[in-house]
Amino acid sequence: MDRLNGKVALVTGGAQGIGAACVQRMVEAGARVAIVDVLDAAGQALERQLGERTCYLHADVSVEAEVARAVQATVARFGRLDVMVNNAGISGANKPTHELTEAEWDRVQAINVKGVFFCTKHAIGPMRAAGGGSIINLSSIYGLVGAPDVPPYHASKGAVRLMSKTDALLYAADRIRVNSIHPGFIWTPMVEHHLTTLHGDAAAHQRELAALHPLGHLGEADDIAWGVVYLASEEAKFVTGSELVIDGGYSCR
Ligand SMILES: NC(=O)c1ccc[n+]([C@@H]2O[C@H](COP(=O)([O-])OP(=O)(O)OC[C@H]3O[C@@H](n4cnc5c(N)ncnc54)[C@H](O)[C@@H]3O)[C@@H](O)[C@H]2O)c1
Repeated sequence: MDRLNGKVALVTGGAQGIGAACVQRMVEAGARVAIVDVLDAAGQALERQLGERTCYLHADVSVEAEVARAVQATVARFGRLDVMVNNAGISGANKPTHELTEAEWDRVQAINVKGVFFCTKHAIGPMRAAGGGSIINLSSIYGLVGAPDVPPYHASKGAVRLMSKTDALLYAADRIRVNSIHPGFIWTPMVEHHLTTLHGDAAAHQRELAALHPLGHLGEADDIAWGVVYLASEEAKFVTGSELVIDGGYSCR
């Protein structure tokens, strides 16, 4: 496959879960990809597995100087930047709103919202230099509909949905497209962790989660990665400000 031949991408949170699947599928499609994460061992292992068309860079997306360095290092290594996948995220504290601390609220916004801001901010210069680009923001079904849990997470994903539309408008003239992706529950370490925050039988909770999706099961990381490959490619050249919902029908109701 050569849908992404010549393109250079940076994937935040690329060491595991959805991010790692995005890295893998984009490399197979011909891209060179910087894997940005704080999980150094997993990131370095993925770089070894995929070879010289990838490089692992340590950066915490909530720290602007680290984001700036990672973007500069990507351009230094691969010569340009065409695609930014803002995927790094945490689910955060699972408590009702009246029990949350300010620190618990702020931590989620720092990574899920401010991280997207920093990465977008520092991607614009190299994308303008490249003559355009594609910014792909991982929101969630919970950027579209509510649920009675993880309040800071849902707030963060709603913010990411509208940040995508604002930036789509701001940078359309630069031929920089900005879209959001809205996954249903995808089987990754994040969802495994979420199940451990619920009381009772984890296997029963997994079946309950699956049943929320009309297709009857959770998604796989690749279900999202194929959407990312599409939005990164020239096949999506007329797509900006859109919401790509990949949720097994969860949000149809
Ligand atoms: N899994 C799902 O069901 C689901 C559903 C909807 C949306 N999403 C979104 O998709 C994205 C990926 O989720 P996932 O399920 O693969 O999660 P995950 O926890 O399995 O992986 C997230 C990755 O982000 C990295 N990360 C976390 N904080 C970081 C930071 N400060 N700086 C850099 N990297 C950091 C982690 O180390 C990890 O590698 C997240 O934004 C998540 O909110 C996931």
